[in-house]
Amino acid sequence: MAGRIPQQFIDELLSRVDIVDIIDARVPLRKAGRDFQARCPFHEEKTPSFTVSQNKQFYHCFGCGAHGTAISFLMEYDHLDFIETIKELARQTGMELPEQSSQPQNSQLPALDELMQKATAYYRRQMKEHPDRHNAIHYLKKRGLSGEIANEFCIGFAPPGWDNIIKLLGNSKITTEQLVTTGMAIRKDDGHCYDRFRNRIMFPIRNRRGKVIGFGGRVLDDEDKPKYLNSPESPLFHKGNELYGLFEARQALRNIDSLIVVEGYMDVVALAQFGVRNAVATLGTAVTTDHMNLLFRTCNDITFCLDGDRAGREAAWKALDTCLPLISDGRQVRFMFLPDGEDPDTLIRAQGKEGFETLATNALSLSSFFLDTLTREVDLNSLDGRARLVELARPKLKNVGNPVYRLMLIEALAQRIHIDPHTLTQQIERGTPPAPTHYSAPQRRPQQAPGSRPSAIRIAITLLLNNPQLAQKVAQPGHFLALQEPGVNILVELLELLHANPNLHCGGILEHWRDKPDQRHLARLARQPVETPEDGLEAEFLGALMLLEKQLLEQEFQELNRKEQETGLSTEDKHRLLELLRLKNSLR
Ligand code: CTP
Ligand code: MN
Repeated sequence: MAGRIPQQFIDELLSRVDIVDIIDARVPLRKAGRDFQARCPFHEEKTPSFTVSQNKQFYHCFGCGAHGTAISFLMEYDHLDFIETIKELARQTGMELPEQSSQPQNSQLPALDELMQKATAYYRRQMKEHPDRHNAIHYLKKRGLSGEIANEFCIGFAPPGWDNIIKLLGNSKITTEQLVTTGMAIRKDDGHCYDRFRNRIMFPIRNRRGKVIGFGGRVLDDEDKPKYLNSPESPLFHKGNELYGLFEARQALRNIDSLIVVEGYMDVVALAQFGVRNAVATLGTAVTTDHMNLLFRTCNDITFCLDGDRAGREAAWKALDTCLPLISDGRQVRFMFLPDGEDPDTLIRAQGKEGFETLATNALSLSSFFLDTLTREVDLNSLDGRARLVELARPKLKNVGNPVYRLMLIEALAQRIHIDPHTLTQQIERGTPPAPTHYSAPQRRPQQAPGSRPSAIRIAITLLLNNPQLAQKVAQPGHFLALQEPGVNILVELLELLHANPNLHCGGILEHWRDKPDQRHLARLARQPVETPEDGLEAEFLGALMLLEKQLLEQEFQELNRKEQETGLSTEDKHRLLELLRLKNSLR
């Protein structure tokens, strides 16, 4: 999504708004030293630990770990998505969203959109008019679907035949192309097109505004394969960002205070028919971070409803991974596992709403599921088993975004396995392997074992985030890339970014990393207070860079030494070695 609005526009926008004004309008701020403070709006607290830095254009709560830029704040606080936030900020600052930038991709959207609505109407009509409609109606009846609920979910029938939708909607080259773009038609190698959905029950997938953006199509006869066909990704439809049934849930409920995530179309529809109106389904994919953000923007209480078998537990374990960074106070994730051979559709038909809800109230909390799974995996009676447990838990725990929640999980785990929580915390935190030597494979992220000195790269990045103008002190960032050290690529990217955009502040920088894997590491460094007084900053920064220069020399020196032992040195190499010795000495 972020790709549609040019980064330049976001840079400009962020240079015009002040995070202090934006937050203060919603959460009154009090000046505290150089920063501003308030009681954190994202968790319950008595003393303020929510801090806003005007200088960095960045907020951070020391209590719950919430942090981000003006954009992130609005997304979280006003429950907006990224585009909506940009629009809101643009409106406030009187900036015009660049139209033409979104034109090439976007200009076709209205036409594609219209096509999908027409297709929906057509499939619904076939359910009433087509000579084969009885097959479809019979199938729905057999599955126990009421006409009412089928109507509400706009369920339709794609009749048999290879070119129904093409004949109906693809009457020009352009519209045929549009059918291919939305995945309603498939183009063969010889250029001819045919309907994707044939003789299937059609489940329209609606976006948050109720527009149909894709379909799931089910066969009428379980012998036919594949059982479900889904629309492919298209300019309208991004699976990882949509939830089947969310629009319908919002229509049916005034307030949504919890959502249940199930696996299938039929499950959502059956649950709705029996009065469980808050079920949604991912579209044949694992739950994504986008899904989770969308769910949490809607409510704070999410329950995953899965098969009790191995596959279901594995899916739950994956979902847990996706949730961990997003858990914070007030947000709740639970897991409910169904009896063998049941899915929500069969279960609610057999046991009714109450039966389903009884199971739902017994859903496992995220922490219980986490601990159960971990302890089930290992033999706690053996030393090996316990060590393995720590190994299994560590990466998960490190992923937990909220420090308080992490501590709570560690303590709960310690209790389960009867060790002292303090010892476990240490084991979990300590476990990072020692800093790599120059020859180990380069790691992608700057990491620091607690207690060790921060690396020069880490220092340089932290200083840059606090004082972006320092970047102008570096003439050629690119040559650091030769350094085999974790984080060097981030440092270079950051320096290059600041050369191209000298006016970016910390918040603006972080927006360049939105949705990228290194964003969390940068945000962590952005939160680090810099103790150095203003007039010592440049010296400290240059000191860190000098250290990197030395490391570069040392690295080259070691490489030549190794070469000498392995294959011997050329004359040129020998000269370089002497020069390196000289340079190393001069930098001492
Ligand atoms: N699915 C899919 N493609 C398939 C099979 C399944 O996309 N070939 C997705 C669909 O979204 C489906 C969900 O996975 O709804 C769950 O699939 P499954 O458990 O196999 O089916 P049910 O939902 O139980 O479908 P039904 O009750 O109609 O048999
Ligand atoms: Mn089913």
